[in-house]
Amino acid sequence: MREFVLYSRTGRTDAKWKNLHDAGRLDIVYECAVASLFLSHAIRKDTVFHAILNGPPEPPLHLKVEGSTLYDVRTDVSTWTQILKKVLSGKQHPGISLSKTSFEGLMREKAEKAKIYVLEEGGKDVFEVDIGGNLVFVLGDHVGIPKKVEAFALRYGEKISLGKRPYLAATCITVLNYLLDRKELSEK
Ligand SMILES: C[S@@+](CC[C@H](N)C(=O)[O-])C[C@H]1O[C@@H](n2cnc3c(N)ncnc32)[C@H](O)[C@@H]1O
Repeated sequence: MREFVLYSRTGRTDAKWKNLHDAGRLDIVYECAVASLFLSHAIRKDTVFHAILNGPPEPPLHLKVEGSTLYDVRTDVSTWTQILKKVLSGKQHPGISLSKTSFEGLMREKAEKAKIYVLEEGGKDVFEVDIGGNLVFVLGDHVGIPKKVEAFALRYGEKISLGKRPYLAATCITVLNYLLDRKELSEK
């Protein structure tokens, strides 16, 4: 199982917005959800994407998107604008759920069954880490992971780096999925 957790400092927790960017950068949530869950013409059934939204009016809100049950969805921005508006206004979409789970609660829950890796430029080089099994990757938004939040996640996990260049969070997810796909395929 692969899981990606985006810590969104500003992502809105209601549906009173016009576009994803102005909704506290929910565009980053959308980009990361697509990078986590989509292959060409297929959804990754073994993958879950989480976003912890910390924007107004009622943070935190845990948005969970499960590849195993996600359907009726495409990869374009207008589809996801509609989906996020719908779920944030309390309606249902298959594969997507909302809860009041905090980032800390999610980390505690995941630490029981998975290895947790916090993505950060200054971490251990990903090529020096033997990644496998049930995996949880934690990423920051456009501003990065707050220090306190990072310190909490590091109680349960380790910091890894994709190199010295700062990439978009969604790019990091694409790179990780690629590396893990290559590893899995070479082990078959
Ligand atoms: C757009 S970056 C944030 C940039 C922000 N200025 C910072 O210093 O964290 C979004 C997230 O992607 C991840 N990230 C970006 N580049 C990375 C790299 N080279 N290695 C590991 N993680 C990276 C980190 O989790 C980061 O918080």
